[in-house]
This record gives sequence, C-alpha cells and structure tokens, in this order.
Amino acid sequence: MLRITTLYDNYVRSSLPGLRSGWGFSCFIEYDDKVVLFDTGADGQTLLDNAERLRIDLREVQVVALSHDHGDHTGGLTGFLTVNPSALIYLGRSFGPAVKGMVQSHGGRLMEVGSAMGLVPQIFTTGELGRGVKEQSLVLDVDARLVVITGCAHPGIVEIARFAKNEFGSDVYLVMGGFHLSGMPEKRVRSIAEELKEQGVQKAAPSHCTGDGAIAVFREVFGGGFAEGGVGKVIEL
Ligand SMILES: [Fe+2]
Ligand SMILES: [Fe+2]
Repeated sequence: MLRITTLYDNYVRSSLPGLRSGWGFSCFIEYDDKVVLFDTGADGQTLLDNAERLRIDLREVQVVALSHDHGDHTGGLTGFLTVNPSALIYLGRSFGPAVKGMVQSHGGRLMEVGSAMGLVPQIFTTGELGRGVKEQSLVLDVDARLVVITGCAHPGIVEIARFAKNEFGSDVYLVMGGFHLSGMPEKRVRSIAEELKEQGVQKAAPSHCTGDGAIAVFREVFGGGFAEGGVGKVIEL
C-alpha cells in the first residue's frame, strides 16, 4: 500500500491542532516496507514538529530525495539528520557545495543523481531535468499507474509529467507538489492543466509554489480529480 503524508507546505490541510505552514515542501512516503522522505521544507524544527503531530517517525526513513538546491526544500535537512543520520540522501549532481558539505559534516551518506534511476523498488527519480534550475521529481509506480511528486517543478510540470510517462511507460495517474505557476496568466495555467489531462493525468494535488490563482484553475479543470495539498494531507493508493 502507498501512503503519502505532506509534512511541510505553504498550506495546512488538517484540523489537527498545532500543525504549522511554511514556505517549502516535504512529504513522507510509505510504500509497502519502503520509507522515503521527499524534500525537507525550509526549517528543521517545523518539519520535526509537524511530523511529531502527525505521528510520523522520521527515524524510519531509509532514503531522502532532495528535488533541487533551493533552501525551501533543503533547509530542514539539518534537523532531519539530527534524528536520522543513517538515511541515504539522493541529491542532484548540480547541487552546490553547501548542502553536500552539511550532509558530510553530519556523517550522512550522499548519492548524486544524474539521469533517471530507481531509488528503492517501485520508487524512481526522473533524474535532473530542466535547462534553468535543475530539479529531480519522484515517480512512484503503483500497479502500472504513476504518481509524480514535484518540489517546485522548475523544469515545467507538463514536461516532468511527459518525461515520466515516456521514461517509465505508464500513464501518470496523480501529480502533486509545487507546480511553480504563481503569477502566471490564468489562460496559460488553464492550458497547462488541460494539457496534463490530455496526457492522461487523472488527479492533481497542487500546493507549495503553485499559487492560489493557479490552484483554483486546477480545481476547476480537474473537478473530482482535484485534491487540496498541504500539511497533514494524506493520500492513500
Ligand atoms: Fe519551492
Ligand atoms: Fe525552487
């Protein structure tokens, strides 16, 4: 069974008291006996506190994947390493020396990612995509349907979803995370949401840097396939 719990986001989507929002993204993925953390948010204490409130034990994490070298995705890593120094940390080759040095100074184990590869059975990375800010996204194979999780989607959410579909040979069922559409004209956002649907994407859970206006457009275009993203959100498949 797959269970994805959002630990860090610009929004809180849970009535559980004490959860905090913050600019950034992180989600905790349990897939059968595999446990993966995707991104760490901006602030370690917020990550640790939200995890505790959600009864998530970060010591169970076997693998951490960092989408890209921006502080709102990597800033919580120091806090994470204080509770779990043994997880294997996958980051892109394009990362600068700061995060790598920090991992090494905490005795953490680093793996550099270039192109698409498997992290654990059924969980893959797209590898670093994009011409500007290079970024990796996670791809989960759930009974030959794909779940794509993006940090900021700097390479473009349509391009990332298309890459996943071509590289892994199945339709993308769900896209979630930051889609980086803030401030984009509504018409352009609408065509992006519609293009994802045309690719076969059935569900979308945009959050983080997607922007309120763009999230509203996705809600309209995806209808029953739309889900609100945010801290405390749990997706089970
Ligand atoms: Fe971001
Ligand atoms: Fe970013």
